[in-house]
Amino acid sequence: MTTHVQIAPSLLSADFLNLERHVRLLTESAEPPEWLHIDVMDGHFVPNLTIGPPFVRALKRITTVPLDVHLMIDNPSEQLDWYLDAGADLLTLHLEAARPGARGTQKGSSATIKELSQGEVEYTHTLLARIHAAGARAGLSLNPETPTGLLLPFYESMDLVLLMSVHPGFGGQSFIPEALVRLTEVRDAAQALGANLLIEVDGGIDADTAQLAVEAGANVLVAGQAIYGQADPIAALQKIRAAVHHL
Ligand code: DX5
Ligand code: ZN
Repeated sequence: MTTHVQIAPSLLSADFLNLERHVRLLTESAEPPEWLHIDVMDGHFVPNLTIGPPFVRALKRITTVPLDVHLMIDNPSEQLDWYLDAGADLLTLHLEAARPGARGTQKGSSATIKELSQGEVEYTHTLLARIHAAGARAGLSLNPETPTGLLLPFYESMDLVLLMSVHPGFGGQSFIPEALVRLTEVRDAAQALGANLLIEVDGGIDADTAQLAVEAGANVLVAGQAIYGQADPIAALQKIRAAVHHL
């Protein structure tokens, strides 16, 4: 079955002591996912710490499935080259953190901003350009309370918007329903501006919320607990595909 909706299983819910087995289980299956989603957390921007560039580099050696790297870190300017060098195919930054001097000023996974100065807009453009210069695709992510209107200056220069449908930091949380209207806001803005955008939703996605999210505008679904958290990740991935393929 093929579908226009892309699926990005999150390795955050995979078996960290048997990662290669868990990765290959899906990437070498009959219908591999379109992406592997990798959650990078620094213990500052979010209250959790996960993995870094060596992990991305090691992963790149065992799969050709594109790597979707989600940076939940303060001051991504300092570290984004590490992930590009390691083989990220898509690198997504949080708009709340992608500002000069943002280090330490946006503690906690509820970090939000209500406006961007012209200087901050230009700064974010330079980060997106650095990702593109490395040959990767560039994404911007928003926490649940950050207004989608702040993305308006970037529709021409980003490839993907990642809307958090939980407060970032942990897998297995419940989908925040307000994310649906936000997905539609981004879809409508992209259409109005003629931007060919990937719209990714991340957090609490299962077969049920996947349908709602796709109807609202998502075309890339991250799922951790609902895929790698299940006894049969292949069947779990198929279940989500089946739930959205007719939409
Ligand atoms: C949370 C991460 C997500 C996480 C999603 O901060 O960004 O990618 O893995 O996990 P589930 O699908 O279990 O909500
Ligand atoms: Zn993520």
